[in-house]
Amino acid sequence: MSVVEKHKEEAVYIYQAPIRIWHWVQAFALLALGLTGYFIGSPLPSVGGEAYDHYVMGYIRWIHFVAAYLVIIGFVFRIYWAFVGNVHARQIFVPSVWRKSWWAEVWHEIKWYAMMTREPKKYLGHNPLAVLTMHIMYVWGTVFMIVTGLALYGEGTGPGTWQHSWFTTWIIPLFGQSQDVHTWHHLGMWVLVCFVITHIYVAVREDIMSRQSIISSMISGWRMFKDDRPADD
Ligand code: HEM
Ligand code: HEM
Repeated sequence: MSVVEKHKEEAVYIYQAPIRIWHWVQAFALLALGLTGYFIGSPLPSVGGEAYDHYVMGYIRWIHFVAAYLVIIGFVFRIYWAFVGNVHARQIFVPSVWRKSWWAEVWHEIKWYAMMTREPKKYLGHNPLAVLTMHIMYVWGTVFMIVTGLALYGEGTGPGTWQHSWFTTWIIPLFGQSQDVHTWHHLGMWVLVCFVITHIYVAVREDIMSRQSIISSMISGWRMFKDDRPADD
């Protein structure tokens, strides 16, 4: 995967259009969810006057729910694309934890990010540490937010609705009571915020330091190698 050999090709098509569209829609939806979620948890001071003159919390919750459904539909689509897309579309769902060499590459990336090694390794798709982080923090983090979010949403839609029957009925008792689910859903936001901050830092850092294109690859789909490219992936 990471063995660097001299090749003629300097650009490889990695991220198919559906992945790229999904990535950026997801990024904006998550930004909206984080911002509105924060204000659901810590609402603005009450505004005076007639209730129908303002609907601040109503709009905040509405944006949260629209973005939430975008994330849910996007995530279901992303799982489908892991089956029908190219090999890179499966990476974040199945980290190669059973391969010893994969763990060696994870260790190499940790050293690379800690500035303890001079030579970057090149990968056609994500590097193994990115896959590990995306799998644990993003994939499972998103599943957690969708499940706990739908459990809370089902409290509003009420008995008889699919959100209530499939999620609220067992998630709320599992955590204790409604406020516990709110608190865990809130904590989940901070996990995703930590992921996003690190993710953006690393994307910019690797764009500058890893001698291959990173951010533009998530826009064009192509990975450009500045001097040579990995033999396989
Ligand atoms: C994936 C990213 C998401 C983030 C970062 C996020 C964040 C938050 C936060 C911080 C809160 C406030 C919790 C509190 O302190 O009480 C909240 C509330 C809530 N979220 Fe999310 N959420 C996400 C996804 C979802 C999803 C997928 C749904 C599903 C419909 C959802 C539904 C809800 C509901 C129903 C509430 C409670 C609203 C209320 O009590 O007025 N969220 N969210
Ligand atoms: C809420 C914000 C974001 C989230 C949740 C997010 C999440 C993700 C996920 C899950 C992937 C893996 C894609 C896949 O294989 O399916 C990914 C890849 C990527 N993201 Fe983001 N992203 C966010 C914002 C950004 C931003 C702002 C940038 C640009 C600075 C960015 C740059 C990239 C790049 C370059 C890759 C590909 C990395 C590689 O080739 O190894 N992301 N992102």
